[in-house]
Order: sequence, then structure tokens, then C-alpha cells
Amino acid sequence: MNIDLVNEINSDITVEFIDAKNLKKHKQYKTLNLAGFSAEQDTTCFLHEKGILACGIEDDSNDNIRSVVSSAIKTIKAANYKSASFTVTKDTTQAVVEGIVLGGYSYDVYKSSTKKSKLNNIYLACGNVSKVQSTFEEAIIIAEATCFTRDIVNMIPEDLNPPTFADLAKKLAYDNGLECEILGEKELRKEKMESMLAVGRASRHDSKLIHLTYKPKKKAKKVISLVGKGLTYDSGGLSLKPAASMVTMKMDKAGGCAVLGMIKAVSELKLDVEVHVFIGAVENMLGGDAYKPDDVLVTRSGTTVEVRNTDAEGRLVLCDVLDYAQDKVKADYMFDFATLTGACMVALGQYTTGVMGHSSKLKHEVLRSATASGELAATLPFNKHLKKLLKSGIADISNVASKPYGGAVTAGLFLDKFIKEENKDKWLHFDIAGSAYTDSPWDCNVYGGTGASVRMLSNFIQNIK
Ligand code: BES
Ligand code: ZN
Ligand code: ZN
Repeated sequence: MNIDLVNEINSDITVEFIDAKNLKKHKQYKTLNLAGFSAEQDTTCFLHEKGILACGIEDDSNDNIRSVVSSAIKTIKAANYKSASFTVTKDTTQAVVEGIVLGGYSYDVYKSSTKKSKLNNIYLACGNVSKVQSTFEEAIIIAEATCFTRDIVNMIPEDLNPPTFADLAKKLAYDNGLECEILGEKELRKEKMESMLAVGRASRHDSKLIHLTYKPKKKAKKVISLVGKGLTYDSGGLSLKPAASMVTMKMDKAGGCAVLGMIKAVSELKLDVEVHVFIGAVENMLGGDAYKPDDVLVTRSGTTVEVRNTDAEGRLVLCDVLDYAQDKVKADYMFDFATLTGACMVALGQYTTGVMGHSSKLKHEVLRSATASGELAATLPFNKHLKKLLKSGIADISNVASKPYGGAVTAGLFLDKFIKEENKDKWLHFDIAGSAYTDSPWDCNVYGGTGASVRMLSNFIQNIK
């Protein structure tokens, strides 16, 4: 599907946004009214003989534009049109591109036969191409990086396991001119990453630590480390998940997939920021050599951890990767992305990313980027009382809290234990357990991986001064 920015409309079907207040003034009001169209947000109505798709919109906010374009694109595809056009301005281009690329996304790799859409050409008519061109190109790069993340989240654990995750990262590095270093189990052992290794011990796949680097041509304004939880499958381990909760746990690698999407976007946008990506790619399985509740693990930092639940494995991988990342790179910002807790979904609902950390300023900045890029994010505050719940009778810290409430925050506080003093204000933790995956469409998201955080972080990095 080609998307082109053009001066004037020329296609089989033209999309028109109509709000309820202006419906009566529309030239085709009578026909639209007869068809039962009341311009409600996200509803559509074809006027085939006029070559128009009328789309209801509440107001011209970017959120509503992105959402209605997502509905429009699905409707146009289903109606077998070959070309369509939208009118855009510089201000609405990003939302329209997101609606088209993200709302029109589908993942059909595992279907034996799929009806291929005939929609080949989409035109965005803007009146003056040169004024909108750069906004358009940036929006396309970010939306496509989001789809790249979705694609890998959607891969099944047979196809995407730690070694194939590393291969995929190598290919991205080759295609985008990034540096790439992969640590296998031998190297992880040398690095004393016994906590990460314990989680992957019962898997038939070797654990991998993936490190990609993007260095800009010009002097970097800032250095940023992005750490991703890459659990290619989370069965829960010996603390086995109930059958229904295990389904979808291929998505437990979404943090790792998101940071790959981010470095792809940044390298294609050619931003003047040095970006490091670190992914702990591990499979959490069970077997005779599985790690156990009651084990005490010695992490890379030397801190000992009592394992009380093998399903709280993400933090056991991240604590070693965060420690490694801090020693490898002196970063101005260090962000981690993880489908870490079901509790985050309980706290915020499944659409919102939970943001945790010490710097109010930094949290405020990323929330602004979330809003500007059409993502939902909210902060979850740390406190000293929740921190105490991680005390262990036998080791330095327990991998789960002693009380069941505030699980997203206690998971964040566990990670905090591994953030060095000088990095406390540079670090943020993003819990994407809810936002990274969906079983039903919402906004511009469709079934499966959503690519959550890619747009938010791309926007944050674009705004670094
Ligand atoms: N990967 C899960 C968290 C998760 C749950 C992500 C649902 C997406 C959807 C994580 O490893 C996990 O199992 N966490 C436990 C922690 C608990 C044992 C303290 C949880 O959330 O139940
Ligand atoms: Zn788990
Ligand atoms: Zn997990």
C-alpha cells in the first residue's frame, strides 16, 4: 500500500469528516439521514455514487481523527476500493497517517489463506506538499516502526525464541547501520548474570543479551539507554500460570520488541542522540533443572534475591540487564520497558502504560510525549511503606512483595534496588503489561501487539534538546 502526499484529491473514494453540528449543512444530508448516519464518532457511511465515505467525528482533536481514520480505512478495504484520499493539514497529518498505517494493520502470517486488500494507493491531499512533507515522512517512519514492533510481538514462541530474537536484532542492525553485540550463556556467566540465567535455565533455548547501538553522524546531544524485557514465553515456571492466564504470554517479549522499534525509528529519523538498546531475551519454562521458589540468586550487582514466585521472572532478568547497562554506558537517560505485572492493568486499566521513577520532571516530560503521540500513560507513585514489603528473611530482597496490593509499584521498587545512586533521577520504568497487547480493537490498535511505547518514546527523543 502506497501513501503519497499530494496537492489535490484524485481517487476512487474521498473521505469526509463530518461532525453532528454540521451534518444538516452537508450537501448530501438527505441521503446520509436516510441511511441512518448521525455523524457519531467512528461511524461511517458510503455514498458510492458520489465517491464519498462520510465519517462521523466529535471534534477535530488528533485522538478523534486517528480513531475515525482507523474505522474509515477498514471500511474502505472491506469495500474493495483501489484508491482513497484524505484531506490533511500539517497539524492533522500525524493522526491521519497513524489511523491509516496502524488502524489498517493486520497480521496474517499464520493464516493459510488471506483475502488480499485491493487498496493500493492512498493520497493525502494537503494543498502544499512542501510544507507538510517532513511531518509526513516522520509520521510514516514512526508508524512503520510501531508495526515492526507489532509484527515481532505477534510471532509465536516457536518462531521467536531468544536465539531467533538475537538473529532478528542482528538483521535490524545490519539494515539500519547499528552496532550489535550478542551475549550468549557463556558470556552471561562470565558477567555473573546468574539471576537472568536462572530464569532461562529450564528452556531448551539459550538465553541472550542483545545490545544494539545507534550513533548519530553529528555529535550526540544526549545518550539514552533503553532496556527491554524480552520473555519470549512466560509459562510462570514452577509457579505455573493457570491455563487461561498463560494464553497470550508470547507477548511477554513486548518490552524488548518495543525498544527494537524505537531504535529503528530513531536511526531512520537520523536523530542526533546516541541510543543503546539492551534486551534480556529469555524463556521462562519448567523442568528438572528449573529455578525454584526458595532459591536464593546472586545477581550481577552482588545483591541476593530470595525467589518466592518464579512467575515474577521479568524483574529477575531486568535487574541483571539494568546493572549491565549502567556499567556499559554512561547514559543521560535510562528507561526500561516491560510487561511486568498484571497489577498494572488492575491499577490503570489495560490501555494505559504505568510510569514509575524518582524524577517528577522526567515523568512529566514523558507523559507529555505520550499525549502528543496519542498514547495513554500515567504515573504510579513509589512510597517507603510499599518498599518495606520486599524484605526477605534470608536474602537482601524478595522477588515478590509480602502483601498483594500495589503489585505494579512493588515490582518497580524491586528494579529500583538495582539502580545506582547517580542514576536514580535518570531512570524511568514503564509497565506495558496492559498497553502492549489487545484482544479487541481500540483506537488505532487491532488484535494482537499494539507497539505501545514506540510512538511515545520516539516523540520524547525527537524533543531532546
Ligand atoms: N508477564 C507477567 C505479567 C503480565 C500479566 C503481563 C498479564 C501481561 C499480562 C509477569 O511475569 C508476571 O507473571 N507477574 C506476576 C507477578 C506476581 C507473581 C507477583 C503477576 O502479575 O501476577
Ligand atoms: Zn511471569
Ligand atoms: Zn513475565
